[in-house]
Amino acid sequence: MERTRRLRTSKMIRSMVRENHVRIEELIYPIFVMEGENICHPVKSMPGINQYSIDRLEEELNRVVAAKIKAILLFGIPEHKDEVGSGAYDNEGIVQRAIRFIKGNEKYKELVVIADVCLCEYTSHGHCGLIRDGVILNDETLPLLAATAVSYAAAGADIIAPSDMMDMRVAAIRKALDENGFVYIPIMAYSAKFASAFYGPFRDAAHSAPGFGDRKTYQMDFANGREAMREVEQDLLEGADLIIAKPAMSYMDIIKDISKQFNIPVVAYNVSGEYSMVKAAAKEGWIDEKKIVMELMIGFKRAGAKMIITYHALEVAAWLREDYDE
Ligand code: PBG
Repeated sequence: MERTRRLRTSKMIRSMVRENHVRIEELIYPIFVMEGENICHPVKSMPGINQYSIDRLEEELNRVVAAKIKAILLFGIPEHKDEVGSGAYDNEGIVQRAIRFIKGNEKYKELVVIADVCLCEYTSHGHCGLIRDGVILNDETLPLLAATAVSYAAAGADIIAPSDMMDMRVAAIRKALDENGFVYIPIMAYSAKFASAFYGPFRDAAHSAPGFGDRKTYQMDFANGREAMREVEQDLLEGADLIIAKPAMSYMDIIKDISKQFNIPVVAYNVSGEYSMVKAAAKEGWIDEKKIVMELMIGFKRAGAKMIITYHALEVAAWLREDYDE
């Protein structure tokens, strides 16, 4: 007789038949770098996450290296914003300087530095593209995204991650990277990126909330799963090497569909609002943070994610060294 409980009788047997795991190598930790000096400024809506000026970045990078995390995702907060987001593609911009700092330091040389490419942190209006008459322009934005990508690669970025959701940006970035000798720099495309309220805390952290309207004319309607597959298909045709699905918790079906339909590593982005909800409930003592977070991480893996971008990465790395299955 079939008795599925037979394989659950002891912790050892359970661990032998366990189908999914998270490895430290699969975690990507986002870091916010800010213009200025001596800054380690807590992001109020994201407990445990800070904005760092470059001169204080080492504190955070040392934690990353100690945790044996291999990859970080950089977001920049510039001092000056303008209509055309020029801080993004300025060779002396905040992210460019942060990358050079990291890559110039023996201790961090091995870290995989992923640079988020978008204009929203750098534009005075907070949108991810150029604007004319209230319309977010697509094709006119592409050269700026491409210039940003090339500038990050020239600074030493290992992977370029466009998060703007303009059409044809992957092709524009791939072409520009190739023409500038960065043929082997991969593109991790935010392909299935939905217009989501779960990005709220991030916009506090990155000072990137749109000044008017919302992002619904470029980010996807969260009701659409099939459309996400078209986005992925298009980005793969344009040369994407890795595909991000974002957010993650309410989008497990998207992660699963991408991993089933395309032979490409899928990256789940466990976004700011998801992080903050867990932190708030844990602070109240309503949930067991470690158990909840590990269940989420394994859930992303079970759905088909290869890698996970998460603000919990430092904690998860520590928990992985312990026995999380108590
Ligand atoms: C920039 C960008 C955003 C996030 C990653 N890159 C914000 C947005 O699209 O408004 C969100 C990340 C998070 O919520 O953790 N376009």
